[in-house]
Parts: sequence; structure tokens; C-alpha cells
Amino acid sequence: MEFSIKALSPEKKKTGCLVLGVWQGGSLTRAAQLADKAAGGRIAAALESGDLSGRRGSTLLLHSVSGVTAERVLLVGLGEQKEFSETAYREAVRAAAHALKSLGASDAIVAFADLKVGDRGLPWNIRHAVSCIREAFYRFDTLKTQKKPPVPALRSVTFAIAGSSVPAPAGHALDEAIATADGVDFAKTLGNLPPNICTPTYLAEEARKLAREFKLGCEVLEQRDMEKLGMGALLAVARGSRQPPKLIVLRYMGGAKKHKPIVYVGKGITFDTGGISLKPAAEMDEMKYDMSGAGSVLGAMRALAGMRAPVNVIALVVTCENMPGGNATRPGDVVTTLSGQTVEILNTDAEGRLILCDALTYAERFEPDVVIDIATLTGACVVALGHIASGLFANDEKLAAGIDSAGDDAWDRVWRLPLWEDYQEGLRSNFADMANIGGRPGGAITAASFLARFTKKMRWAHLDVAGTAWRSGRDKGSSGRPVPLLVRFALRHAGAKA
Ligand code: BES
Ligand code: MN
Ligand code: ZN
Repeated sequence: MEFSIKALSPEKKKTGCLVLGVWQGGSLTRAAQLADKAAGGRIAAALESGDLSGRRGSTLLLHSVSGVTAERVLLVGLGEQKEFSETAYREAVRAAAHALKSLGASDAIVAFADLKVGDRGLPWNIRHAVSCIREAFYRFDTLKTQKKPPVPALRSVTFAIAGSSVPAPAGHALDEAIATADGVDFAKTLGNLPPNICTPTYLAEEARKLAREFKLGCEVLEQRDMEKLGMGALLAVARGSRQPPKLIVLRYMGGAKKHKPIVYVGKGITFDTGGISLKPAAEMDEMKYDMSGAGSVLGAMRALAGMRAPVNVIALVVTCENMPGGNATRPGDVVTTLSGQTVEILNTDAEGRLILCDALTYAERFEPDVVIDIATLTGACVVALGHIASGLFANDEKLAAGIDSAGDDAWDRVWRLPLWEDYQEGLRSNFADMANIGGRPGGAITAASFLARFTKKMRWAHLDVAGTAWRSGRDKGSSGRPVPLLVRFALRHAGAKA
């Protein structure tokens, strides 16, 4: 889909569908007023008829509105003007996109971009309009033999703004948003692919493809490399599976040579059965999404490289399968991590922290400025924060604040949980330096506290995306989170302000 921004009077422009906002209570947005005037009051009359409440997300389609050049006019309710928020804006764009999906229009003009959303500005509106439209049009039907007809006709969307020219930051926002949406779609598809296709080897192949397409550095460490290095924790998780583990290193160096890189570390368990500490059967299929951290890191790389962002970022994707079997790790096994510390594996289902600890130690060699790991790490995080906020942990205040505000800006929000030393007691082991689990209370914090033991030498943050990386139920599917956050964070790190 093509996107553009144009300074124009929307009622005078030829288009398949003109999308206008109306407030609950009957008042019109500026663009809707212009169209209403041109149409001799037809829009106000439609509202007065009671056919459109103006409630958030409600829509009404009008055909052949005389005086307006567009073939159709789609009115979208924005809710109460005084309650207009980021969520309301995004809901309105989403409602418009869903309505457009079922129309025959091949192009549309959307006149939402210069609505006032809190203290956000035009670039924010543009970014979020693109992300909501792309979200609505995302499809994953490559594995269905009968594709859902009809294929949406919509091919181009123009954001109409008032004034005589398009400000440069809005143009940059559009480029950023399109590349970010490409990264989000990429992460979604990796997540949605079944675990018999999206294996560690498949992820490594996809990383190599990205490297070829976007001229990234790429290196894949194989099992024998891990053995030589002494990644005992990662190997302990991988050993129950027929699928060989991979540690993928992707480099994008778009910034100045002297700038130390951001390192993003992604958990890539392509299927988490729990291992010998086997999970219950119900909803176990969703554990194909246990590679969502890895998918988001690859998606963020695709986005940043696609927009030629002036940043240095290294992606470390640590990937394997967690399976039971005759060669699998037993509860009670003690392993030596790459850091030299020993771990008593009391529960083989707490495998994410085991693969991450070795990847985090490996990250040291890139002399990173900051390291952020992204993982579907704990069910406890879902209990704590639900499906809205991802869990944030950090050993550095400035880094935590930077991630928090990047998440807010990207509407890919996080909430910080504590990493106090007092929680370390829970990981006590009688037989090794630490156990890989603590008690049930505060499980997300215990997991983060485990990782903290491997990141003392770096500025580090951990994102637990167990509740946000995918949706369950009827709309089951990957969300692509936290790609938007990771992209925004990297851009701000490089000095982008808008
Ligand atoms: N991948 C899971 C976490 C998870 C569970 C994410 C459910 C989303 C939904 C992780 O590997 C895991 O199994 N964690 C255990 C840890 C426990 C054994 C300490 C959990 O959360 O139950
Ligand atoms: Mn697990
Ligand atoms: Zn897992």
C-alpha cells in the first residue's frame, strides 16, 4: 500500500473515498465542515438523521455526495471532543481502515492527520495513522489453500492536511512509519508461522536473507561454536531437540563509527513444551510465539535498515527448541554458563533465562553502549500487567526512562518493575551458584533478577513481552510488539526528536 501526505482541500480532490471525522454530539471537524459546506449541508443532515452516533469507531458511508468530488464519503465517529485521546485517535483510524477494507475504492483521502491529539503533533499523527492502517490490512494466509476473497482493493492512502505545504518532519514521519510497519509485519509473520516451519534454522535463514537484502553483517554461531565457547546454559535447553540451536548476529552500522552499538538480544524459543517439566496441553500451541522476542529484534533491524537510520545496532538472536526427550536436561542438572557461573536447573520450563544469560554474556564482546533483551519470559508478567504494557526492568535509570518514553511515543507501552537486590535471595541453590527458578510470587521479577546476574558490566534493560507479543482466542495472532518501541528507541538514541 502506498501512503502520501498532501496539503489540500479534501472536498475538491478526486478519490475513491474521502474519510472525515465527526464528533459525538454532532459537531464536525474542520475538514468535515469544508466538505459539508461544499455539499450544501448533506453531512450535517446525515448526522441529524441519527444514522451516525459519532461514538468512537462508528462509521457511516455516503454515496454520491453532490458538491464533493470524491466517489464516496466515509464519516467516522471520533467520540467526545473533550475526551479525544491517543487511544480514540487510533481507534478512529482503525475503524476507517476496517471500513475501507470492504469497499471497492482503490484510493482514499484521510483527513485525520491534523486533529489535535493531546500534546502530540503532526508527525505523531502520521506515524500512528500508518501503523493502524497497516495493522488493519495485515493478513497471514500463506498456509490457507482458499484465500479469503475479495482481496482489498485499496492501494493508496493520502493524508490530507491544511496549509500550503507538507512540513519536512511529517514526511520523515511517513518514511519512518512505513519502514516500521514493514518491520512489524515481518515480526508478525515469523511469529504466526507454525513451529514446524519457523525453526531455529529457518530464523537463521531469514536473518541471512535480511542481511543480503539490506546489506547487513551476518554471522551464525552453530552448536559446535557454542560448545567451544562454553555456553552450557543455552546448550542445556537445546539438547532435548532434534533441531540444532543457532546464535544469530546481525549488524547494522548506519551511525558514526565512533558510536558504540545498541545490542538487542531476542529470545527465540521456536517452541516451548517446557521440556521434562512439561507444560499442560491446553493452549500449548501458543508456545510457537515463544520466539517473539527474536522476531521483534529481526523486525526492528529490518525497519531501521529499511529507513537507513543513522544508528549502530547489533541484533543477537538466540534460538532453539525446548523439548523433552531421552537426551533432554533433567530437573536437578547443574550447568556452567558462558560467564563461568553455575546454575542448578530446577525447572526446565524456565528456559528463556538460560538461553538469554549466555547470549547476554556474549553481548559483552560488542562493547555495547546499551543492551536490551526482549523475551516472552514469564506467565507471571501476564498476570501482573495483562496484555497492555510490557514489563520493563533496568539496571540504569536513564536507560529505563529512555525506553519508557520511546514506548509511550510508539504507543507500545511498558511499565517498570523493581530489580532490587532483595529479590536475589529467591534464586538460592544448595548445589550451584544459583537456581533457575524462585517461588511463585513475583515470578517476572525473579526471572529478571536471574538475568541481572549476567549483566553487571553493562547498561542493560529487559523487556518481558509475554503478555503483549501475541493475542489469544478468536483473533489469535502476533502483535509485532515491541518492534515500534525498539525502532523509536534506536532513533531517539541517534538524536531524532520528532
Ligand atoms: N515461555 C514461557 C513464558 C510464558 C508462559 C509466556 C505463558 C506467555 C504465556 C516461559 O518459558 C516459561 O515457561 N516460564 C515459566 C517460568 C516458571 C517455570 C518459573 C512460567 O512463566 O510459568
Ligand atoms: Mn518455558
Ligand atoms: Zn519459554
